[in-house]
Amino acid sequence: TSERITLSVNGISQEVTTAPSRSLLEVLREDLALTGAKEGCGVGVCGACSVLVDGKLMSSCIVPVGMVQGRAVTTVEGLAAEDGTLTPVQTAFMECGGFQCGICTPGQVVAATALLRECPDPAAEEVREWMTGNLCRCTGYYSIVAAVLQAAK
Ligand code: FES
Ligand code: FES
Repeated sequence: TSERITLSVNGISQEVTTAPSRSLLEVLREDLALTGAKEGCGVGVCGACSVLVDGKLMSSCIVPVGMVQGRAVTTVEGLAAEDGTLTPVQTAFMECGGFQCGICTPGQVVAATALLRECPDPAAEEVREWMTGNLCRCTGYYSIVAAVLQAAK
């Protein structure tokens, strides 16, 4: 059965009528046309679907949308400034070549953003550890870690 669920997404109040058991990822992509978060594994292990819920990093593929009733969701689309100015994390991924095909990149960027909010000056080892939940099949992790460290500078 469907329910009316209200949530804030990237600072905009949204109302969706849907089964509360549907994944937040599916609702973001299909109902709200926010396709930044990607589906990789669909079971909570690859990080491609990473979003922030009340500032906490979560895998949106395993979050039932009913759980985010009344909460604030931030997707990769909501990180840059309104005028399009990229965040330091986004800029650093570009400058360090932290992506190839780009499928994992929104999740990597969201995860790195969450890390730097909690820990603004991480050591390389802390970056590697934090980012273990975000898999990349292309780039090799060196440039991803380099990007996060550059963004922290
Ligand atoms: Fe959500 Fe892989 S798609 S963790
Ligand atoms: Fe292709 Fe990471 S850039 S999976």
